Amino acid sequence: GKSIKIGLLGSGTVGSGVIRVLEMNRPQITERVGTPIEIKTVLVRDVKKPRPQLGDVRLTDKIEDILDDPEIDVVVELMGGIHPAREYMLRAMEAGKSVVTANKDVVAQFGKDMFAMAEKKDVDFRFEASVGGGIPIITPLKQCLTANRITEILGIVNGTTNYMLTKMTECGADYDTVLKEAQAKGYAEANPSADVDGLDAARKAAILASLAFNTRVQLEDVSVEGITKITPDDIEYAKDLGYVIKLLAVGKDSDENGVDVRVHPVFLPKTHPLASVNGVFNAIFVRGNAIGEAMFYGQGAGSLPTASAVVSDIIDVARDIINRTFGHVRCTCYEKKKLCPLDA
Ligand code: NDP
Ligand code: HSE
Repeated sequence: GKSIKIGLLGSGTVGSGVIRVLEMNRPQITERVGTPIEIKTVLVRDVKKPRPQLGDVRLTDKIEDILDDPEIDVVVELMGGIHPAREYMLRAMEAGKSVVTANKDVVAQFGKDMFAMAEKKDVDFRFEASVGGGIPIITPLKQCLTANRITEILGIVNGTTNYMLTKMTECGADYDTVLKEAQAKGYAEANPSADVDGLDAARKAAILASLAFNTRVQLEDVSVEGITKITPDDIEYAKDLGYVIKLLAVGKDSDENGVDVRVHPVFLPKTHPLASVNGVFNAIFVRGNAIGEAMFYGQGAGSLPTASAVVSDIIDVARDIINRTFGHVRCTCYEKKKLCPLDA
């Protein structure tokens, strides 16, 4: 039968994680989709760089090898930045290919163009990994919480700065050293000032607020302050008073003030649920008028956690393609497999 073929743009921290997750979970992914998913071609900047972890995938530095390949069904963009990622995604959809991305820069600034092109060409555009790394939050906001009027969304949405603040608080680590550590772990953006200046969190806040409040919140609508001005004295002072410093994204929608979205460091009492979200973990708290409070928690950055969200989007898109081509995807979750002896 038909396998679903992927063109992968970028194989750095997240791209190599995607290749690994598709490989390590191949049997169950094939079962869930009903057909195998194969990475056909990978676009990189430097094809000569040794990449032993990628196995025998075909590398190219020419985007046309992916965009002009009629066999490729889905383009997965994991290069980062606006240019040329935005153009490549638009051209992929123009060519009738669905797109999956982790690129919050493009979604926050050019989401509208992306959705318009996806609609025009009747293809999918998915971006679960753009906020909160591996945490499911985009799909819950787009689907599972739509019955609510959401009035508040509050979260720790940047893994790099949360990792830095945690280490500075718990071990007295030095700012520059701990930033370098976050970069070495693959958490930071290519230009880490996006993390420490709060811009990455602001992009994510704009995406979350747009979905939660069903309106268009642009980057320039978000007031932003990062963590660069926080001193060891601030951290000690917070500790002495029973607080921790966290970089929070805050979105509110009220009848009186309308939509207000901001990113800034706050003193949180140690008893606050977000105060114990440490290291690379992120958490997003949502208040809706039917569900009440809901909280989403998990690893906000890193290779495999982020790949978890990207590959789930790929699976969803693949199922959609199979659906459109062959009719409905068979649900295998009710088939009896190996059970614990007591239940067998
Ligand atoms: P990396 O810098 O690790 O990898 C980027 C990859 O893209 C590299 O393989 C690079 O090629 C390739 N690339 C970059 N620019 C070009 C270009 N112009 N032409 C061809 N190839 C190019 O980035 P990450 O994996 O960390 O991040 C990817 C995306 O995922 C970004 O949008 C980021 O914001 C997002 N993201 C990252 C997370 C993380 O934890 N790192 C978490 C959630 C989202 P080469 O290898 O030859 O240099
Ligand atoms: N640089 C980002 C972070 C990657 O640290 O959260 C995940 O979006």
